[in-house]
Amino acid sequence: MNPSRWLLHPAAKPLLFVSCLLPFGWLFYGAAANQLGANPAEALIRSTGDWTLRFLCITLAVSPLRQATGWHALARWRRMLGLFSFFYALLHFTAFAWLDMGLDLAAILADIPKRPFILVGSLALLLMLPLAATSFNRAIKALGAARWQALHRLVYASVLLGLLHFFWMRSGKNDFGEVAIYAVVIAALLGWRLWRRLRAPSRT
Ligand code: HEM
Repeated sequence: MNPSRWLLHPAAKPLLFVSCLLPFGWLFYGAAANQLGANPAEALIRSTGDWTLRFLCITLAVSPLRQATGWHALARWRRMLGLFSFFYALLHFTAFAWLDMGLDLAAILADIPKRPFILVGSLALLLMLPLAATSFNRAIKALGAARWQALHRLVYASVLLGLLHFFWMRSGKNDFGEVAIYAVVIAALLGWRLWRRLRAPSRT
């Protein structure tokens, strides 16, 4: 059966929704059952950070995958995947603000200049706010397709800042293995877009 037909199946979107919630469910269960290791707060902060970056990469992979396979129905999934990136970013920030900082706003603000990687992460999250706020049909209509598309290019800055945040955090431990994998994936996803943009004028 043509995979595009699977993607258009009425059960496909609810299935995707439930799949996207699996990491959250797994973390929630781990926390409730006290199975997150010796430092559950650190495990929660780090896992939600990892899932934010993963969801951003998965969201950015939709267009190249669609082009490569011709499965155009994949486009219907992009918005949900983008919103789940934001959901995990909010969880990540909440875990940090709550478990690391005891929800003390003054302590959070004081931490920013002390740990610049936190500032970079906060910028990445801030850039996601207008994207999440304009991800609904009425916002797309109100902005117009061209302006909406231009605004949503902020996702490129957000993923790069997220990567820098990760790099900065791991550089303190001289541990670059995973950072390098994400860097290659993100370079490929953004490089593909740049390549298409550079090619576009020669086609017209
Ligand atoms: C798009 C936004 C963000 C992304 C993609 C992101 C991603 C990540 C990643 C991948 C990690 C490392 C996880 C690991 O070691 O496996 C991390 C750690 C962390 N992030 Fe974020 N982050 C973002 C925003 C933020 C924000 C807004 C804050 C707080 C204001 C924050 C605070 C932290 C902290 C405290 C750690 C753990 C540091 C440690 O354990 O030493 N992040 N983040």
